[in-house]
Amino acid sequence: MTNRVHVFDTTLRDGEQSPGVRLATEQKLEIGRALVEIGVDVIEAGFPISSPGDFESVAILSRELKGVTICALSRARERDIEVAADALKFAERARIHTGLGVSDNHLRHKLRMTREEALAAGVAAVRYARRLVDDVEYFMEDSGRADRDYVYRVVESVIEAGATVINVPDTTGYTDPGEYGALIRGIVENVPNSDRAVFSCHCHNDLGMATANTLAGVLGGARQVEVTVNGIGERAGNTALEEVVIALHVRRDLFGCETRIVTNRLLPLSRLVAQHTGMVVQRNKAVVGANAYAHSSGIHQDGVLKERSTYEIIDPLLVGAERSEIVLTARSGRHGLKHRLAEMGFNFGEERFEELYDRFLTMADMKTEIDDDDLRDLVIS
Ligand code: KIV
Ligand code: ZN
Repeated sequence: MTNRVHVFDTTLRDGEQSPGVRLATEQKLEIGRALVEIGVDVIEAGFPISSPGDFESVAILSRELKGVTICALSRARERDIEVAADALKFAERARIHTGLGVSDNHLRHKLRMTREEALAAGVAAVRYARRLVDDVEYFMEDSGRADRDYVYRVVESVIEAGATVINVPDTTGYTDPGEYGALIRGIVENVPNSDRAVFSCHCHNDLGMATANTLAGVLGGARQVEVTVNGIGERAGNTALEEVVIALHVRRDLFGCETRIVTNRLLPLSRLVAQHTGMVVQRNKAVVGANAYAHSSGIHQDGVLKERSTYEIIDPLLVGAERSEIVLTARSGRHGLKHRLAEMGFNFGEERFEELYDRFLTMADMKTEIDDDDLRDLVIS
């Protein structure tokens, strides 16, 4: 099995389904260009039959973005598939992403189909899509809650019908890493023609396990990850692109896999998506949050100033951040204060420094953070 993990970005489709988010075509194009630059393999550009605006966005991104696969979502219906193919007409590499639910819950309550009817409809959809494009991905919605043997049968049948990629979505974010990893491994090991397709992780974050589940899927044999920038998406969101990419990089000893993402563009990309979607990134967000490389307690500052790796497993430069930050608060120690004063050009003898440190603590108890202006006031007063 190859060790290359393909990155399928769905910021512009599943990400745009975040409540309150609406991206104009121009904004989608700007994000799309940034996604190409950062090196994603597939951009899911939209769901063309859903609205004329979405059709237009997929068509424009297909025409403008090169060196990447452009993917369009469709239900397992001929008309959806035709419209998706039409929107993808000018793509250098086009993929149709079609599928149906596989859990009994979805079959009974949403699709109102038997397992056999849904299987037949899925196979027919893949066959039809393959008449229009060479690359067809099949999604098995709500795989996380589905019966394993039925999932295996669906996978075997849609691969036989021509699906090139099989998406195994944990649509409701229900599984834990052990279960999701075993689901992927079970498919790879039990489906007779599994060597003819790539398996894809698509996880939602309802229980806060989307990234862990996706990584477990990679360990189980998946070689595509479906992600969004900043983890935006329906409800609690999708797996965050930056988290998976950096986890695969930092823990390559564990995963033994690589992507082709240019990691030092992650932070600018995160900011671009936050700006266009209006979805602010929480300060403590892994990899791209404002606090991700900031150290505020004295114990940590002391360690980081002696040797960065004591408290940092990610080099800020790796993700495009300037450097680690020493934040001065009431929890900071002498080492942190001395370091910052020296950076500002102030060096004091022991006695004067101790007197400054006492006044610094008094000030810090009243303010959340002490900035450079506060320090200058301290020094001159
Ligand atoms: O979460 C999901 O199941 C999806 C599919 C439409 C791929 O987004
Ligand atoms: Zn989804």
